Amino acid sequence: MTESKTIVLLHGFPFNRSMWNEQIEFLGAHGYRVLAPDLRGLGENRVRDEISTMEEMARDVATRMDEAKSARAVICGLSMGCYVAFDFINLFPARVCALVLAGGRAEGPDKAEKQSREQQAKRVLESGFAPSVESILQSLLAPQTLNEKPQVVTRVRQMVAKTDPAGAAAAQRGMAARRDYRGDLTQISVPTLIIAGRDDGVRKPIDAETIHQGIQDSRLEIIPKAGHLMNMEQPAEFNQALLTFLKSL
Ligand code: MLT
Repeated sequence: MTESKTIVLLHGFPFNRSMWNEQIEFLGAHGYRVLAPDLRGLGENRVRDEISTMEEMARDVATRMDEAKSARAVICGLSMGCYVAFDFINLFPARVCALVLAGGRAEGPDKAEKQSREQQAKRVLESGFAPSVESILQSLLAPQTLNEKPQVVTRVRQMVAKTDPAGAAAAQRGMAARRDYRGDLTQISVPTLIIAGRDDGVRKPIDAETIHQGIQDSRLEIIPKAGHLMNMEQPAEFNQALLTFLKSL
């Protein structure tokens, strides 16, 4: 199997590998080999630390690739998965044949973001996700999804409800400690697809534009009627964008 036929899918926060179910099935049916790990402390991943850094998550991904005997792959991240993808390509540039960055942001956290993440980490440790799940849904999903796709809303709600508070707090602290990746962008020379949801309430169009302008060999796809969880909200469009890109490699 050629290297660009293996694709690693890195999920967002506070989710797990099941957010990629449609992509796992679709890519598998098109002959791709998919690795979709649960990132540190999330889903079935039982590592529990005070903090799970993006770099540690990236090293875990390399270990997972070693176990799967995959030397190089296409690395695809969504949101927190993009931070992990940036650290992955920085640590292991020779192991990446192409990048897909969905709902991503290169800018590092400022003081206010760090404080807010620490507060959220403490809150989830004290009370779990029950008090915040509805506001998470409102901010991550497009109005169209909230109004017309109850099955997607239910899936996202169930994923959040299953997330372990200790693992989530550690990942939240890891995101607060992440680097500013803007300086990395010009170093990235692999083909890169950037995907943004047109109705994403947590990532601004400028976030995708910054990444697009920084990475020389990149293209930008905007998915209509999609919010931050664009791959679940508009799976057919997301999968088509992904497949077209993969076939171009
Ligand atoms: C995600 O979807 O992974 C989160 O929105 C990431 C973040 O909080 O920056």
